Amino acid sequence: MTDTASAGAAPEGGALSNLLHETRRFDPPAELAANANVTADAYQRAADDRLAFWADAAERLTWTKKWDQVLDWSNAPFAKWYVGGKLNAAYNAVDRHVEAGNGDKVAFHWEGEPGDTRTITYADLQKMVSQAANALIELGVQTGDRVAIYMPMIPETVVAMLACARLGAPHTVVFGGFSASALRDRIQDCDARIVITVDGQYRRGSQAALKPAVDEAVAECPDVRNVLVVRRTGQDVAWTDKDLWWHDVVDRQSTTHTPESFDAEHPLYVMYTSGTTGKPKGILHTTGGYLTHVAYTHWAVFDIKPETDVFWTAADIGWVTGHSYIVYAPLINGATSVMYEGTPDTPHQGRWWEIIDKYKVTILYTAPTTIRMFMKWGAEVPARYDLSTLRILGSVGEPINPEAYVWYRHNIGHDRTPVVDTWWQTETGGHMISPLPGVTAGKPGSAMTAIPGVSADVVDDAGQSVGNGQGGYLVLTEPWPGMLRTIWGDDQRYVDTYWSRFPGYYFAGDGAKKDEDGDLWLLGRVDDVMNVSGHRLSTTEIESALVSHEKVAEAAVVGASDETTGQAVVAFVILRGAVPKEEAQGAELVKELRNHVAHEISPIAKPRSIMVVPDLPKTRSGKIMRRLLRDVAEHRTMGDVTTLQDSSVMDLISAGLDSAKGDED
Ligand code: WT7
Repeated sequence: MTDTASAGAAPEGGALSNLLHETRRFDPPAELAANANVTADAYQRAADDRLAFWADAAERLTWTKKWDQVLDWSNAPFAKWYVGGKLNAAYNAVDRHVEAGNGDKVAFHWEGEPGDTRTITYADLQKMVSQAANALIELGVQTGDRVAIYMPMIPETVVAMLACARLGAPHTVVFGGFSASALRDRIQDCDARIVITVDGQYRRGSQAALKPAVDEAVAECPDVRNVLVVRRTGQDVAWTDKDLWWHDVVDRQSTTHTPESFDAEHPLYVMYTSGTTGKPKGILHTTGGYLTHVAYTHWAVFDIKPETDVFWTAADIGWVTGHSYIVYAPLINGATSVMYEGTPDTPHQGRWWEIIDKYKVTILYTAPTTIRMFMKWGAEVPARYDLSTLRILGSVGEPINPEAYVWYRHNIGHDRTPVVDTWWQTETGGHMISPLPGVTAGKPGSAMTAIPGVSADVVDDAGQSVGNGQGGYLVLTEPWPGMLRTIWGDDQRYVDTYWSRFPGYYFAGDGAKKDEDGDLWLLGRVDDVMNVSGHRLSTTEIESALVSHEKVAEAAVVGASDETTGQAVVAFVILRGAVPKEEAQGAELVKELRNHVAHEISPIAKPRSIMVVPDLPKTRSGKIMRRLLRDVAEHRTMGDVTTLQDSSVMDLISAGLDSAKGDED
């Protein structure tokens, strides 16, 4: 199935053999089905009256003013959900649980990588968020101002996000693995005036500084007024006159703050995601619809029982999975979560299973790439721990291979736990296609059907719904509450990117297939965006990073299937003429280029291999033929260093070029 995940594969591509032979079915456990939050009738109810269904779901929130209209779609594709409603996101996530007498309930069991721990109750969280909100007010943050957050997986990151939400100041969280220039671009794009960060973070047992990247970024962002720095590692950091220690400013604030209500459509956050072309897109999520969507799906798809469950989304807060299912949904539902700072192999490969054993985790949510890594490490590692509390396993980020699904279910879930393969995107805000653990008989490798209240279809090139057994493009045919509202500052790009390919439908960019029962199998992106370890990377961004190196003239990047990371970045580069021949063939240069990409974008974007070539295959209109390059990259094992000396590679390119000429024009 790894082939199926390859981004460029045409939706009807031949990589479906595994699908056709996949006949395993796993029924919901009887006890889970008998007590499930959501039963089969939800599908019918939602189909009968979709908006009434979403009106019901919104009752999961506390509104200070109820909405007048569930959906206003008159200005499509610009949606307004819960029109006229007012609420405060942080109040819903925190205060109301304290008011209901649940202040002592644990919100987070936090586990630091070095082994330090913190237990944070809802009452603690209320005080921390109030103090942080008061601090932001002191720093001049007003409703509508943007705040950038560049932090690791520590409780203050959650607190910072909720403090922004409390003030109606949209946050933009930038993943801590991104480089200074990526941070700078995001700060500038949304014009953030305050940045919240840390001195450093723990990563694989050592301290990695984060603050220097902020210094580098902020040096080019004159409009940033202050940088608020949480002390995490205690390492030495350079200090500028914009910098303030979090503990100096936040700790002395009042622990109470009265939340104000905001319009349902008030911006909650901007999350940047790669596109096929150009700069990253700032995906805008607003308040009422987004919160309804994530709260409902967390309750339905994970069957969350806030009284007894211990929930763990093992993802980074800097991605949408962390926003929706570490922060907003679990807190709105009053759940207890685990939050872990570090990597799965620090200090040993059993760390996750040790955490599950220790906190008696009942629901685990992670990505196929991580599952494949655990498979590589061996089933004997989790076998050493008590995982008997687990009752549901989730997967997200890319298609899950049937082998990985079955391994996960067997070795982690001991064949008792349903696996919910949840398809969604940064843009959708929350789950869209997923089994329901108490209802659906799961098929390994399939995300099954749209959840109640969501309408998805697979269409052909002409936008016609395909029949069972056929593949095509995944589209969403009706608006949904958690949908992005626009691309920050670029309404036209929002329309062009998502709503133009198939008029009236949202085009997700993924290929999908309906099996004989009409269940959905995701096939990966139909464009050139790569998915490396569940992270979506754009070829263009990496190409631009390579070309920004003084020795590179041109670059083409493709995603080649990779056993561990789903896809791996493979780059082809043409050097500038001035580069001496000996250097052009050296391992040193390849290393330099890989590091350059890591610095410009992120270590995640580092090419697995870089091949120096004299020429690149292009269509007549000048577009690089990436599909051909992907074939080359996948049909040869390339080492770290492959140079133009390697004529067999160039032979492959030219052979392919002859047969493929013109097909992408
Ligand atoms: C893209 C969205 C959703 C949060 C993490 C990634 C791929 C995501 C699945 C899945 C097959 C999946 C799609 C999608 N994807 N989940 N269960 N099965 N593919 O968010 O970075 O916005 O990426 O990830 O290609 O379009 P994202």
